[in-house]
Amino acid sequence: MFSLRKAIAVVIALCIAIAGGQVIRLDCNRDFQTQVRNAPEGAELVGSMDCTFTLSQEVQIGKPLRIRNFRAQLRPGLGNTAAMIISSRGVQLFDFELIGNKDTVSFEDRESLLRVNAGGFSIINGTFVNSSRDGITVVPVGSTRTPITGGSIRNIYGYGVERDVVAVNSRHGLLTSRIYINGVEGYDSAQKGAVEVADGCQWIFVQNVYCERCFYAVSIQDHIRRERAGDAESQIQANHHIRFYNIRGRDLRYGVISETSPIGHSDITYTRLEFSDCRQAVYLRYMNDVSMRFLQVEQPKTGSPIVLAEECNRVRLSNAVFRNSRHRGIAIATNDCTELYVGSVVLESDTQFWAGLRVEVPPSLTGVPVTTAYNRFEAARNGVIIRRFRG
Ligand SMILES: *[C@@H]1O[C@H](CO)[C@@H](O)[C@H](O)[C@H]1NC(C)=O
Ligand SMILES: *[C@@H]1O[C@H](CO)[C@@H](O)[C@H](O)[C@H]1NC(C)=O
Repeated sequence: MFSLRKAIAVVIALCIAIAGGQVIRLDCNRDFQTQVRNAPEGAELVGSMDCTFTLSQEVQIGKPLRIRNFRAQLRPGLGNTAAMIISSRGVQLFDFELIGNKDTVSFEDRESLLRVNAGGFSIINGTFVNSSRDGITVVPVGSTRTPITGGSIRNIYGYGVERDVVAVNSRHGLLTSRIYINGVEGYDSAQKGAVEVADGCQWIFVQNVYCERCFYAVSIQDHIRRERAGDAESQIQANHHIRFYNIRGRDLRYGVISETSPIGHSDITYTRLEFSDCRQAVYLRYMNDVSMRFLQVEQPKTGSPIVLAEECNRVRLSNAVFRNSRHRGIAIATNDCTELYVGSVVLESDTQFWAGLRVEVPPSLTGVPVTTAYNRFEAARNGVIIRRFRG
């Protein structure tokens, strides 16, 4: 039976949908910024993918709007200019493509295609091509200068983006936190990669990333110089509570990289990683409470250890498989790490490593350097090698 309750619910839903915003057609033959400025708060602007805006200045979005179905291109030679800047909470960008001009601007004039300076955003189904800097940069600067809390980035594609497809940064002690990134594909970013988390972020969730022909797939960073690492104010750039899940890549310099100083990055987890044809699959440095589970590495190019951790405390590495490799070096190496656990690591019979695990013990350590369990290192000439260097 058709209930009154249901009818009321439908009417309420309709009212919310209508009150949620007026729908306005975006006309790509008119100025994008003017149309954004004229739209009332909460409106939905809908363009067409058959028509491309050519931008001679950035489009500032300073109020909560939903903008969908559009394609915009930066005018060739136009430097120091983003395509779009989000400077209000609650902006939604869906189904769009932004095209940069990296071949026609100089290195000093590079700029990201989309700058996000406020939280509560939702950026879904976006493609970024030939950006002179990042695809998306989330960073609390610009007119707002407030911390960025909450935001979701989904289904993003980057082609030939000069730096990161998605970069999430804190700045000047303004914290960026609770950003959910799900689904990023990056191709041909020779300087950087798919996702970077930098300079003091917290609770950043990064999942379902694929990267090809990049410097790395994912990175944790700070910009503190080594000699300033001991200063109290340097810790502001330490990243905490970062979760990476299902990160894959091929033909990379690094799968996972840390571009960090010893300022106390902590609680960082990597779960489900799959890399092939990388020069070094994993490089961890200066991290506390770091865990990596379910790593698969194939056909690594020869060179450094496949997995390297340096000066990390409380490291857990488990469920890793190395296969199909002519690498004659070390599968996993750690330098000066404490409270190290390595378990359930398998070197398949089509590998021929010199060692499964090499642990270089920090000079200060007197206790047990490493706990190992359930590893299968038979394919290597040596299983575990422990080197103590005492001055
Ligand atoms: C994103 O794209 C998918 C697949 O094309 C589509 O199903 C979904 O509705 C899109 N999401 C938004 C918010 O536009
Ligand atoms: C991106 O740049 C490459 C060369 O660097 C060019 O071949 C390609 O057409 C560009 N793509 C777009 C959409 O402009």
